[in-house]
Amino acid sequence: MEDPALDPDIEAFYSRLGENDRLVVPPDGRLEYLRTQILLRRLMDGENLRVLDVGGGTGVHSAWLAKDGHAVTLVDPVAAQVEAARTLNGVEAVTGDARKLEFDSGFFDVVLMLGPLYHLVDREDRLAALREGRRVVRDGGLLAVATINRASAWFDELTRESTGDPEQEPTIDEGAAHFETGVLDLVAKGIFTRAYFHRPQDIAEEFTAAGLPAPHQYQIEGQLAWSPHLASILDDPAQREGALRMTELMEADPSLLGVGPHLLSAVRK
Ligand SMILES: C[S@@+](CC[C@H](N)C(=O)[O-])C[C@H]1O[C@@H](n2cnc3c(N)ncnc32)[C@H](O)[C@@H]1O
Repeated sequence: MEDPALDPDIEAFYSRLGENDRLVVPPDGRLEYLRTQILLRRLMDGENLRVLDVGGGTGVHSAWLAKDGHAVTLVDPVAAQVEAARTLNGVEAVTGDARKLEFDSGFFDVVLMLGPLYHLVDREDRLAALREGRRVVRDGGLLAVATINRASAWFDELTRESTGDPEQEPTIDEGAAHFETGVLDLVAKGIFTRAYFHRPQDIAEEFTAAGLPAPHQYQIEGQLAWSPHLASILDDPAQREGALRMTELMEADPSLLGVGPHLLSAVRK
């Protein structure tokens, strides 16, 4: 494959370095961070693992993975984010693209793709990224991929009062078209980039089309993300423990996989 081109709108969006705060400040981001840690720590059995964080951004996950004692390499196409990640202890950060990874085959124990598939709106690009993930993970190693759930744009709309302003938020017609195609383009509204939202069965099918086994799938945040009381639930230790227990109980229930914001699909090669 030729060197893949990065969409300039994606570069501009992430060069603002908003990823630094996204998982630390707003309650939905805090929940995403917490649940990603819970799931990955459970799935990554072993110490001192070689971890590749593809699309790792400013290194929010790489930072705690390195603190846990793993040897972490972050790769991301947005130079400003890679520069920020380079300041993290124990993290090696390089620029690069999920569709063409510049690493030896079978080098990593764990390959994470927590974001790149959101931004690859063409199926062939998503399959190229999954094939590269498969190539660079060792036999028996773990590949874990996050996707945005297709229905979550609508659930997200339902949690906030509409401004009624089509310049600022998707119209019902845009929402309906997005639910059909999975592609949502929020560049003009200044909210997000161009993105692809998967249904759970779509990402499972893409794994097999890329030569991977069918994945195990886990809701990351689950229904908890849509609670109007999320901030106070997370701030109260007893409520938080109870809510996390319910989320864990329901995380892999097939009838619920698509209802939260993000899904984690994971396989051992
Ligand atoms: C929503 S952010 C997620 C960052 C981080 N992994 C996290 O979970 O917070 C999506 C990331 O994917 C990166 N990305 C976009 N297109 C990519 C591509 N083709 N290859 C690798 N990463 C890409 C972006 O630069 C951005 O850092």
